[in-house]
Amino acid sequence: MADHSSTYEPKSATAKWWDERLPIMRLLSDQMITFPTPKNINYLWTFGGILTVFLLLQLVTGIILAMHYQPSAAEAFNSVDNIMRNVNYGWLIRNMHAVGASMFFIAVYIHIFRGLYYGSYKAPREILWILGMLIFLAMMAAGFMGYALVWGQMSFWGVTVITNLFSSLDGIIPGLGTAIVEWLWGGYSVSGTTLNRFFSLHYLVPFVIVGLVVLHIWALHMTGQNNPTGVEPKTEADTVPMHPYATSKDLFAMFAFFLMFAWFVFFLPDYLGHPDNYNPANPLVTPPHIVPEWYFLPFYAILRAIPDKLGGVIMMFGAIAVLFFIPWLDRSRIRSARYRPIYKWFFWLLVISCLALGYLGAMPAEEPYITWARIFTAYYFAHFLIVMPIVGVLEKPKPLPASISDAVEGGKSSSGASAHKKN
Ligand code: HEM
Repeated sequence: MADHSSTYEPKSATAKWWDERLPIMRLLSDQMITFPTPKNINYLWTFGGILTVFLLLQLVTGIILAMHYQPSAAEAFNSVDNIMRNVNYGWLIRNMHAVGASMFFIAVYIHIFRGLYYGSYKAPREILWILGMLIFLAMMAAGFMGYALVWGQMSFWGVTVITNLFSSLDGIIPGLGTAIVEWLWGGYSVSGTTLNRFFSLHYLVPFVIVGLVVLHIWALHMTGQNNPTGVEPKTEADTVPMHPYATSKDLFAMFAFFLMFAWFVFFLPDYLGHPDNYNPANPLVTPPHIVPEWYFLPFYAILRAIPDKLGGVIMMFGAIAVLFFIPWLDRSRIRSARYRPIYKWFFWLLVISCLALGYLGAMPAEEPYITWARIFTAYYFAHFLIVMPIVGVLEKPKPLPASISDAVEGGKSSSGASAHKKN
């Protein structure tokens, strides 16, 4: 992959034998050990590794939970309670899985905004970005279906509200929306049938994510990593081998992130959830405020900001769809916002809008929240459809450094670079 030629040399006769038949050690060595990594990448570049670890953690804890979980309307809620109270370390596995989902989304949002700030989506990394967006979609599907499995009040009513959105398609072709909703439910309302298929798909989707992540990292290793300057490495002096330089930084960041994770798991396991989900699902009692998990709140705010149901659904899906086109919407000649004095401010305005939409999504659908949600929704779309294409053309960027080495040390060669040559 990339123009990084293999430096692997089998050290024993057995290693040579393997290398001639299945060069897996060569692949690992070339892609994970000697792979050239820009020497200036900061801690924001550690989140890809953190995400990989959390994906594996979700798989392992999820598989253990599935050994004790009962996917039926009568048993689901009690089986979760049984996991928490009676299964050996069930409380730990479940807390890790539930809190782990939130950590996964915190990490992915940081990962995405890092990409937006440093222009990591720009050529030649468009496919890498699109694969990331597909992962994000799959993560949202997994999170949504997983929350349903608890079969508490918020699970049940969350599924009811979100699946019902499809009924708005009746406004385009009468009967189409209702038919889709009943097909999704497997009946005339959300029921045990719906729960059972959600369980099946919730088990499947993470494996699809694993496949997408493999492609994502493959695409990344074709182009190599971007870096805070947005200038591609020009000589060997601009890069260091992935191991031990990037790997040790990744490990340190992972440890720090795990401390936060452990804090939530052991001291605040319910903080990120909703108390209503400790009541078993009851189709006869609607909770006063139906809210999704925190990581969906910005999109939920966009949905409710539009007075028309179909319009709201279109805007909500549009808010995700627009992200796929960013590589072509951004007309700037350079990547990194570090050298874009005007765009930089718009970037922070986008961050503020997303945080504000998250807050507004948790508030009741009434004034003044609705008006504010409309304002921030308008900016969200304006950012991608107006600011990105126009500012990219009009802005005069700051002068770019001639190379990564030039940016970090005024052109002097570093010990990292000489270490690379040795490897
Ligand atoms: C399960 C979820 C994901 C995993 C495991 C994952 C993994 C990784 C890894 C290991 C890297 C290299 C290290 C780094 O730059 O942090 C990376 C880079 C990247 N990822 Fe992801 N990723 C995920 C989701 C996403 C999403 C949702 C996007 C958004 C579209 C995305 C966009 C990117 C981009 C643009 C890069 C290149 C960054 C650069 O070199 O500057 N990823 N990813």
